[in-house]
Amino acid sequence: TTWVVLHIVGAYLLGSISSAVLVTRLFVDEDIRKQGSGNPGATNVLRVAGKKAATAVLVFDVLKGTVPVYIGFLFGYEPMVLSIIAISTCLGHMYPIFFSFKGGKAVATALGAIMPLNSWLALCVLSTWIIVFAITRISSIAAIATLILAPVYAYLFKPQYTLAVAILCCLIIIKHKNNIARILSKSEEKIRKHSSKK
Ligand code: G3P
Repeated sequence: TTWVVLHIVGAYLLGSISSAVLVTRLFVDEDIRKQGSGNPGATNVLRVAGKKAATAVLVFDVLKGTVPVYIGFLFGYEPMVLSIIAISTCLGHMYPIFFSFKGGKAVATALGAIMPLNSWLALCVLSTWIIVFAITRISSIAAIATLILAPVYAYLFKPQYTLAVAILCCLIIIKHKNNIARILSKSEEKIRKHSSKK
């Protein structure tokens, strides 16, 4: 049990490393939390610091989710423990201890955490995001659609994770309340195909 507790705490600490804050500081010397949507995530980094910076953030934030869950999987932890690890790393991203608890929405980290659970689940979740984004060009709509469908996919392919995935998705949808308001007032920004930034 000590190892399990350390693993869960470790996942939270890893989740707490806000790559968006660090990468944006490094690339354009700005505070991502004061620019664009103010969200420290890959989407906003794309707006503020360009494609390379956003890709770095996306990869790091996805791995923050994948690595602790995958290691737990290799250790043979039960679904319940893996679920707690996944939620823990996402909570780290949302409420990072290293960044005065002002974190992001954990879309990338949650996708990363869900992926090692089942390959069909991973495939469905990823393709939903990609298809909805391709149609709408709005990152938050792609995220919300994926978050609504993810518990259904979990139920179909890995039912023992349905509750954990549903809890995670609810937390992340709540984090999108400002986005939802902007979507409803039609003021949510599209991401242009060829952004002028790097
Ligand atoms: O992944 C976060 C995305 O769903 C919304 O980001 O910056 O548009 O609030 P943002």
